[in-house]
Amino acid sequence: MTESIPGYDYGSERAAHSPVTLTELRHLEQTVGWTEDDARRLRSAARTLVPQAERMVDEWRAAIGRQPHLAAWFLKPDGAPDEAYKAAIKRRFVQWVSDLCLRPHDQDWLNYQEEIGLRHTPAKKNQTDGGETPPLVPLRYTIAFASVVITSLQKFLPDDDELESIEAAWTRAVLLSVALWSRPHTSAGLW
Ligand code: HEM
Repeated sequence: MTESIPGYDYGSERAAHSPVTLTELRHLEQTVGWTEDDARRLRSAARTLVPQAERMVDEWRAAIGRQPHLAAWFLKPDGAPDEAYKAAIKRRFVQWVSDLCLRPHDQDWLNYQEEIGLRHTPAKKNQTDGGETPPLVPLRYTIAFASVVITSLQKFLPDDDELESIEAAWTRAVLLSVALWSRPHTSAGLW
């Protein structure tokens, strides 16, 4: 159950309150092309994707691990990977696959996107798990890594008529999320 994932504060008062309004969220959804059909497609794809979520995260983690300039954000001051930190984050990352497919885009969802954004910045990185890793995941890498998260999806879905439309929905959902996560990285008024 999600309540038992340490540091997973979705829908709780511990999560940040997003300064983004629901109207701004709807505008961003329109901009990325998100529709109710996308929401329906991801809800239905969740049946296939959620049971594979851990494998998906393992694949993304492996891609990070192969690139020292990305793995750097998971290292302790002595230069060794912080395995406890990585394991704690992984459970919430696996949960994110389910949330991306199933959660409605309401205030709680918006708030948790702000929280995830903050957890990639000095405001909250390391705080949840008591890590001593570098204090920032630079925004450019989160944006660029979206490409990996988007293009790897097809490996986890059957090659049928639905594939293309699910991939399009997933792409829009990931880009919408990253757009919201970018907010805490920007100066006031520039987001
Ligand atoms: C589109 C790309 C990315 C996605 C979908 C993503 C997703 C996530 C999620 C869901 C979490 C956990 C949030 C929670 O605590 O509930 C997280 C945390 C984290 N991510 Fe990312 N991430 C992305 C890019 C990156 C990149 C490129 C790096 C570094 C190489 C990175 C490093 C981290 C770290 C270190 C944390 C833990 C932060 C902390 O709480 O201390 N992420 N990410």
